[in-house]
Parts: sequence; C-alpha cells; structure tokens
Amino acid sequence: MTLSTFSIPFYLVRWYFASDKEECIMVFKHLFEPIWIGNVEIPNRICHVPTDISSAHADGSVSARDIHHHATIAKGGTGFIIVGATSPWGKTGRSTVTCIVADGDEYIQVLLV
Ligand SMILES: Cc1cc2nc3c(=O)[nH]c(=O)nc-3n(C[C@H](O)[C@H](O)[C@H](O)COP(=O)(O)O)c2cc1C
Repeated sequence: MTLSTFSIPFYLVRWYFASDKEECIMVFKHLFEPIWIGNVEIPNRICHVPTDISSAHADGSVSARDIHHHATIAKGGTGFIIVGATSPWGKTGRSTVTCIVADGDEYIQVLLV
C-alpha cells in the first residue's frame, strides 16, 4: 500500500525529521498524552485515518491480511486506528468487493478480538 504524504499531518513530519526529538515531544506534549473516549483510554492522540485496504474475504469477513495490516500500525505506536471502508449492510452494498462487512454477529465477533 502506498502511503500518501499529503495525508500525514505536518506536525508529525516535523517531529520525524527534527534533530531534537526530545524538544519536539515537549512542544507537542499533548500529542503523546493519553486521552479518554467514553470509558476507553487511548494511549496518545495520534490517529490513523480510515483507509480502505480491500483485504477482507469475499464474504466480507476479516482476513489475516486485515489483522496484520492494523496490528503493524498499532505496533508503530498509533493510539487510535479507524478501520477503513466497512459495510454495515452487505446485501445493499459494499464500497469495494473486498471491503469488510459488519452486519451480523459472526462478523462483529472477529472485529472485537
Ligand atoms: C488510499 C486511501 C484510502 C482511504 N479510504 C478511506 C475509507 O475507507 N474510509 C474513509 O472514510 N476515508 C478514507 N480515506 C480518506 C482518509 O481517511 C482521509 O480522510 C483523507 O485522506 C484526508 O486526510 P487528511 O485530512 O489528513 O488530509 C482514504 C484515503 C486514502 C488516501
């Protein structure tokens, strides 16, 4: 998957290329502080925007590739990941033929793991 540089927030680019990362962490200290969303604690304010990777199985269930992709982003330290294109009702439409479907308990269980 190609990473589009235009979608990377400027402050993260500045942090990545900064010679003094300690100073940047001080400047953007809230970025690395935890935050609560409802009763879930998010470890930092770095958010991965939804990006469809069209890797679900033909029936819409989550694939090993979906899990590997999102696990890799999480291991990089991203505090909050929004999963891309997901159909809430597979019968009426999917944005791509292999996007995730979440319209039944059998699909939801896998997403909760
Ligand atoms: C390859 C690609 C796939 C995307 N897939 C989705 C998606 O599945 N669902 C969605 O709501 N937005 C999707 N987007 C939009 C992004 O989530 C984001 O809103 C957009 O890139 C603008 O980000 P920015 O405001 O940081 O520039 C996608 C963007 C890209 C580049």
